[in-house]
Amino acid sequence: MERTYVMVKPDGVQRNLIGEIIFRFEKKGLKIVGLKMMQISRELAERHYGEHRGKPFFEPLVEYITSGPVVAMALEGKDAVSTAREMMGATNPLKAAQGTIRGTFGMDIGRNVVHGSDSTESAARELGLFFAPGELVEYKRELDSWIY
Ligand code: PPS
Repeated sequence: MERTYVMVKPDGVQRNLIGEIIFRFEKKGLKIVGLKMMQISRELAERHYGEHRGKPFFEPLVEYITSGPVVAMALEGKDAVSTAREMMGATNPLKAAQGTIRGTFGMDIGRNVVHGSDSTESAARELGLFFAPGELVEYKRELDSWIY
């Protein structure tokens, strides 16, 4: 089983989309193994998006992600990274397929509602940035044998 980091961004929180977004991942079959609401500090934002430092959108991105609370979650399941990315849709909501989270709720690349790790390596790094080891749980669900 794989784990990924997914986050409802500040616009998703302000637009009352927390429940809708968690609902989609949960109903899909991904298991929530970590969940919290938090305010991201500038330092954490700069570390999280460190690979984009120097790009024209870096500063607006840091401003945006620190502009209000986010909901951080750790999701577990088979191919969790790519499954969550598919459900989110393309980075630019204009290009995101209808039915995906960004395709349904997004209007602008700078306000694209959710974040999801783009690889298993990113997932491990981001889960480590946003969650202390004790904040992630392991448990069995009866329905797992019906999903797999
Ligand atoms: S890149 O350069 O291809 O690696 O960037 P990309 O993966 O497309 O995007 C990385 C994150 O930056 C955000 N982004 C932007 N924000 C504001 N304005 C513009 N123009 C812009 N372009 C990209 C994008 O939403 C990604 O955020 P996350 O949270 O990783 O999805």
